[in-house]
Amino acid sequence: EKAGYDHFMLKEIYEQPDAITDTYRGRMLVEEGIIRMAGVDDNMARIANAKRIIIVACGTSWHAGLVAEYIFEDLARIPVEVEYASEFRYRNPVISENDVVIAISQSGETADTMAAIKLAKEKGAFVFGVCNVVGSSISREAHAGAYTHAGPEIGVASTKAFTTQITVLTLMALKLAKHRGTISDSTFRFHLQELERIPAKITKVLEENDHIKIIAEKYKNSPNCLYLGRGYNFPVALEGALKLKEISYIHAEGYPAAEMKHGPIALIDESMPVVVIATSKGHYDKVVSNVQEIKARQGKIIGIVTEGDEAVRELADYVIEIPETIESLTPLLTTIPLQLLSYHIAVMLGKNVDQPRNLAKSVTVE
Ligand code: F6R
Repeated sequence: EKAGYDHFMLKEIYEQPDAITDTYRGRMLVEEGIIRMAGVDDNMARIANAKRIIIVACGTSWHAGLVAEYIFEDLARIPVEVEYASEFRYRNPVISENDVVIAISQSGETADTMAAIKLAKEKGAFVFGVCNVVGSSISREAHAGAYTHAGPEIGVASTKAFTTQITVLTLMALKLAKHRGTISDSTFRFHLQELERIPAKITKVLEENDHIKIIAEKYKNSPNCLYLGRGYNFPVALEGALKLKEISYIHAEGYPAAEMKHGPIALIDESMPVVVIATSKGHYDKVVSNVQEIKARQGKIIGIVTEGDEAVRELADYVIEIPETIESLTPLLTTIPLQLLSYHIAVMLGKNVDQPRNLAKSVTVE
């Protein structure tokens, strides 16, 4: 059932091109320039007129929510807040009928996320679920929703659920943007075309696997690791660090690259690997100067860069290239090498990749 792969996690990493295709298939009609999502179409007035969108989730799903915040605000111009479900539910949050709450959950069973949406419903908000497991508790409790079609995710560390969540949320943001008139027809169509090209580009990133193994071998014994990214790739830095912590038990932290000089830069010396997401679109020059600052302190640099990059390559110890795409879609590509890096490090350290200690696939207690 692992289809020839050593672990479910690796199988699920490799399934991402198909999982993303399955998630947009039937919803995104590229030629016609249409996105169909029944859960959104049937409630368009309510969702598109929201004064605010509040995203509630935990763990990796919360990271997908952070990516969505950038996409929704950028394209649909609706203010978004992203909340840890566990904090939101106990905070006496200010919610009204004008709010739309999006709950993101792979399992659809996470206790804190469930409690958060029950609270939001009581206060009159409209609740939209983005779940992977069909018929799960959260998908039933929500007023409407859209499934990610990732297929079963068995590995405890979430991989294809994350990228398919981003896919669904991107479709939703584009659809709302079109309805609200905050995106031009040509930009809308360009996004659809680019999203359609993502699975093939992920396949290309997966071809970097052997190169990523070499990097894993080099840094597997580091006790710490820092992940940096900006804009759309700040949440990817958080997700990369979470993956490494979960399955290799190496201490890792993700930070917005510019925040480094407000503290974490003190950690950098010749023994600190720093994974920097430095794609050509989002604030590239600023990230390059962050890389220079790390280099000046002898930090070891692993750059996730766009094909053809020169500036980061010159400074970095290793680079992993991803194909070019529009900025809002880069997380779908930059996430892949970080998943593989964590995977290989954990395997090399002899850890139980699919069932890391102390973790469960769905957290049904708070
Ligand atoms: C990370 C991971 C957890 C889950 C979190 C939320 O790899 O598996 O952080 O993402 O427990 O789970 P769901 O999405 O099922 O609500």
